[in-house]
Amino acid sequence: MSRLRGRFAGEVDELMHEITSSLEIDLEMAEEDIRGSLAHARMLGETGVISAENAASIRQGLEQVLAEYTSGAWVPEPVHDDIHMAVEARLTELIGPVGGKLHTARSRNDQVATDVRLWLRAELTRLDAELADLVRVLLDRVEADGQSLMPGYTHLQRGQPILLGHHLLAHAWVLQRDRERLADCLLRVNQCPLGGCAMAGTAHPIDRQRTAELLDFPAVMENAMDAIAARDHLQETAAVCAIVMTNLSRMAEELVLWSSAEYGLVRVGEEHATGSSIMPQKRNPDGAEIIRGKTGRVLGDLQALLVLVKGLPMAYNRDLQEERGPLFDALRQAHLSVQLMAAMWRQLSVASDRFEVDLVDDFSLATELADAMVEAGVPFRQAHEAVGELVQLCEAEGAANLAPIRRHTDRLPSAVAGRLDELLDPRAAAERRTSQGGTAWVEVERQVALLRAEVESVQNHP
Ligand code: ARG
Repeated sequence: MSRLRGRFAGEVDELMHEITSSLEIDLEMAEEDIRGSLAHARMLGETGVISAENAASIRQGLEQVLAEYTSGAWVPEPVHDDIHMAVEARLTELIGPVGGKLHTARSRNDQVATDVRLWLRAELTRLDAELADLVRVLLDRVEADGQSLMPGYTHLQRGQPILLGHHLLAHAWVLQRDRERLADCLLRVNQCPLGGCAMAGTAHPIDRQRTAELLDFPAVMENAMDAIAARDHLQETAAVCAIVMTNLSRMAEELVLWSSAEYGLVRVGEEHATGSSIMPQKRNPDGAEIIRGKTGRVLGDLQALLVLVKGLPMAYNRDLQEERGPLFDALRQAHLSVQLMAAMWRQLSVASDRFEVDLVDDFSLATELADAMVEAGVPFRQAHEAVGELVQLCEAEGAANLAPIRRHTDRLPSAVAGRLDELLDPRAAAERRTSQGGTAWVEVERQVALLRAEVESVQNHP
């Protein structure tokens, strides 16, 4: 049944076949496998390693295998160890023993490495486009609802009033940096391992540059052993996915929080909310929760890839076959999550006046008082202390806000006491922060223009 049994007297054990076969997961990159073979066959023909006629019939056969596979006319049989053996078997069925020449000057080691790189290149390119879309959606949202006032938090304690646009830009910038990370990773993914053979290269006069060129790889991997043994590009890809997911997860956590009655800043679209089997009124932000949950899963994928490789001696070890589960999963979850996050932001509604009044009713404007005292000549440390004491006084009088200070203006420099209305206005507090990167609307608008230009100028595809 199985091939590659020439040196054995009998067949492989059934359980052994089941545990060692990678065919099922390989199907994800079946087309890449055939395309890699098409390039290899062409190079073999051009260099004279095999005759031009043989190369031509192998290529014709491979084109047919590809057509049959994509139309569903041919389904790789589970008897084969992996996609490489299945394709070769079908090719040989179609064109006869000359199909056996395809594997000249090649090993499944450089073949699988090539397939994964071709697959990854397309996936990373798609993920980048999805990330760019998410950044654009966030920028649109900043323009639409960005002037909404909200509390800025540290330690999840109200700190200073800010604009929603300022907050959303913080998420948008890190996602743009994710795109930079991805582009950098893509440079290392996009190198050709084909021709590395088992690990040592070959005595046949192959032309690795030509194969690379046929597969649109800008560079050949210099060392044949590195070409087949390296998996750092997989780890790096999973790390990029993991970082993207942690960024999405922070945003998801906020969407969950902001959707609560207590916060009430956003309402996710109906198409992204779910109900309850018992509580008829529920409108749960499950999409955001799932993204937060998937983040743990992708962090696990990265961990799996790191641990998989750590103890392996050079060069190929069969353990490496386990790479595809976590790698494919990390990308699948990242694609889904980035797309869903963009869709949720497109549909959700913002209660733009939610915090307009509410922010007067807390201590978020304490920094304004301290800053105003600084303008009146008080050193900041002293001003901080004095306002702290005023907060204590307000609390002692049973207030949860700064309102009682209007009865204690004697404790403020007169220049500050005379400005209380303006100082206790949360919107004025946000708009005062015009320093570069500050929360004032002028700065938000400036960043939107800047980030939009960056998003459009960097389109990562090889
Ligand atoms: N199915 C194998 C994998 O995914 C292909 C490479 C097999 N190489 C070998 N030396 N047994 O890694």
